[in-house]
Amino acid sequence: MNENAVHDVLHKGVSTEKPEEAGRPFCNVYIMGKRYRVPAGFTLMKAMEYAGYQLIRGCGCRAGFCGACATVYRKAREQKLQFALACQKLVEDELYLVQIPFVPAEKALYDINKIRPEANTILSFYPEIARCVSCNTCTKSCAQDVKVMMYIQSALRGDIAKAAELSFDCIQCGMCAMRCPADIKHYHVAQLARRLRGKYLDKKSKNLQRRLEEISRGKFDAELNALMSMSLPELRRLYANRKIEAEKE
Ligand code: SF4
Ligand code: SF4
Ligand code: FES
Repeated sequence: MNENAVHDVLHKGVSTEKPEEAGRPFCNVYIMGKRYRVPAGFTLMKAMEYAGYQLIRGCGCRAGFCGACATVYRKAREQKLQFALACQKLVEDELYLVQIPFVPAEKALYDINKIRPEANTILSFYPEIARCVSCNTCTKSCAQDVKVMMYIQSALRGDIAKAAELSFDCIQCGMCAMRCPADIKHYHVAQLARRLRGKYLDKKSKNLQRRLEEISRGKFDAELNALMSMSLPELRRLYANRKIEAEKE
C-alpha cells in the first residue's frame, strides 16, 4: 500500500489503493501484544500507524535523525530482545514490538557557565562511567554506528574533546543505555562532553559572534516577523526556492 493510500485509510477510513497494489504480501506483527496484518516493506512506525496507533510521542523526524522512536522488538522463535528506530527498521513476519515514549534515564544537573572543562569534570557528574567493563554492547546497539564505548572511555580518561568528537553523531535515542550492564547513560555523558567542548575548548567563531550581535540589535526583526506571518504553503514555497550559498573555500 502506498503512502497516499495509507493516509486515506488512516484519515478518511477508506482505501484508495489500486487493485494491482493490493496484491503485495502482508506480515503478521504483534504491536503492544496484539496481532495485526500490515503490508511487508513498511517501517515499524508505518506499521503502527497502519494498525491504527496515533503516535503523539516517540515520533519526530521520521528519517533517523531525531532519536525519538526507540523501539524494542523480538523476532519469532528468538530469545534476544533487539532495539531499533521505528522509522528505520522494516517489519518482518511474526515480529513482536513495543515502543517506549522515552528512556527515563537520570540526567545530572549542572550550570554549564559554572563548571570547568577539567579532566575529572565528566566523572564527577557521571561517576558510573568508571564501572564500564568494556563489553562494547553499547557500540553494537547504537543506531548511528557511533563508537559509544570509545567515547565513554575518552570521557573516563578526561579527554573531553575526543569524547565530544566521537559522540558527534549521537541522536540521543537511548538504545545504548537500555543495554549497558553498568547502567551508564551514554548520551547524557556525551552531551556534557559536547557542551564543555563547545563552551570552553573550541575556538570562538567571529562570524557567529557578529551575527548574534546583529540579531540582538534587531537587524532581522522585520524578516522574522514577515516569516512568522506566512502560511505553511508560503513557507514551504519559500524553502523550496531558497538560494543555497556556495561553499566557501
Ligand atoms: S555497554 Fe556499558 S559497560 Fe559495556 S562497553 Fe558500553 S559503557 Fe561499557
Ligand atoms: S550513542 Fe546511544 S543514544 Fe546515541 S545514537 Fe547511539 S545508541 Fe542512540
Ligand atoms: S522519528 Fe526521528 S529518528 Fe525515528
